[in-house]
Amino acid sequence: MHSNRREFFQFLAASTVLTPSMRALAQQLAVSHDQPGVIMSAKEALQVMDFEEAARRALPPAHWGYMASGVDDDLTLRANVEAYRHIGLKPRRLVDVSKPDLSTEVFGVRWETPLFICPVGGQRAFHPQGEMATAAAAKAKRHQMILSNVTTYSVEDVAKTLGQPPWQQLYMPLKWEETDKLVKRIEDAGVPVLVWTVDLLAGRNTPTMTRFGRQDTRNCIACHSNGVGTPVPGYRPMYEGLNLEGRYNPPDATWATFDRLKKLTKMKLILKGIDIAEDARLAREHGADAVVVSNHGGRDTENGRGTIDILPEVIDAVGPQFPVLVDGGFRRGSDIYKALAIGARAVGLGRAYIYGLSAFGQEGVERVLDILRAELTLTMRQCGTPTIAQITRASILRNGARI
Ligand SMILES: Cc1cc2nc3c(=O)[nH]c(=O)nc-3n(C[C@H](O)[C@H](O)[C@H](O)COP(=O)(O)O)c2cc1C
Repeated sequence: MHSNRREFFQFLAASTVLTPSMRALAQQLAVSHDQPGVIMSAKEALQVMDFEEAARRALPPAHWGYMASGVDDDLTLRANVEAYRHIGLKPRRLVDVSKPDLSTEVFGVRWETPLFICPVGGQRAFHPQGEMATAAAAKAKRHQMILSNVTTYSVEDVAKTLGQPPWQQLYMPLKWEETDKLVKRIEDAGVPVLVWTVDLLAGRNTPTMTRFGRQDTRNCIACHSNGVGTPVPGYRPMYEGLNLEGRYNPPDATWATFDRLKKLTKMKLILKGIDIAEDARLAREHGADAVVVSNHGGRDTENGRGTIDILPEVIDAVGPQFPVLVDGGFRRGSDIYKALAIGARAVGLGRAYIYGLSAFGQEGVERVLDILRAELTLTMRQCGTPTIAQITRASILRNGARI
């Protein structure tokens, strides 16, 4: 298929009927078809990582850099992905796996799969339909979506596309009065679960992102009229009407702030960005309804630990009844399987679906979700564990030893 298209684009590139710029484009497309693994449509993708290169080609360097980078030397970003390689599977044979069931329960609600959509900010930087395309895909494929607080479409609009209010992530404003207003607005939108992200309260160091930004030769000020890297006007609808002065994530927040937030709202309250046993225990003691083990996709502290390696200590600290969610580096169904085996209640996707969104909009997100569901189903069948409850730590080994 690729070689036919390449020939077609080469034919166009040589055509005298086209303008020079169209011929140049055809030449580019012909070249891209020379490279194995580069996909031109969502349908062609065989695996999630096929979308990574497609996304890189679709995005301007600054937007790609914002998405693909981590902090410091990007070690934690890489650790998230690489840590799965040290975990092996223990497949059981001659088990009836004819009826796999991926369903699980979260807060009393039956989910068809344990996969949810992580909050990712500024999605119109990746595709013109941004969070609307993601919501439409989440609806079509029936996945829980968590909307970022720095979404480019409001929670009210996203709820319409999703067919129900999403869970809402919170970056807390510095002033409590503004937090109060923001949380009330989210509650009024019918959101059942608030997810407070606590891993960026101390700031972060992002040299890779800055380096990519410097390669960008476009006129960024045309969109980012307040300066490169600042939000595009109108693209922060959740902070409209608030007096933020562009600042959020209070560095003086403590567990007392959590207690205050808990009192402020009837929504269930989750803490996102918990990375060690002690904090997980504190979260449970302070009445959190769940935690998300997350290092923001390697974008907060360069702690050098993949989230899958952190998961066991967190689950052991809070016990099996307390819901522990996890995200970071999930690119294969077998990665998801490993997290479920350790005891995660559900698994969040970040860049995996953003690659799909960047390259092909809603269709790309849907294909990513389909691929991961199919791969997880296959792993469950191959391992002789056709239901989520049957997947336990006995199903895996880390560096050859039981976890
Ligand atoms: C471009 C980008 C933007 C993000 N924006 C947010 C955000 O607004 N709020 C948040 O809580 N997490 C945000 N995250 C973190 C994700 O929710 C998630 O923790 C992370 O992407 C998971 O790692 P993965 O990308 O390897 O799957 C963002 C991640 C990326 C890559």
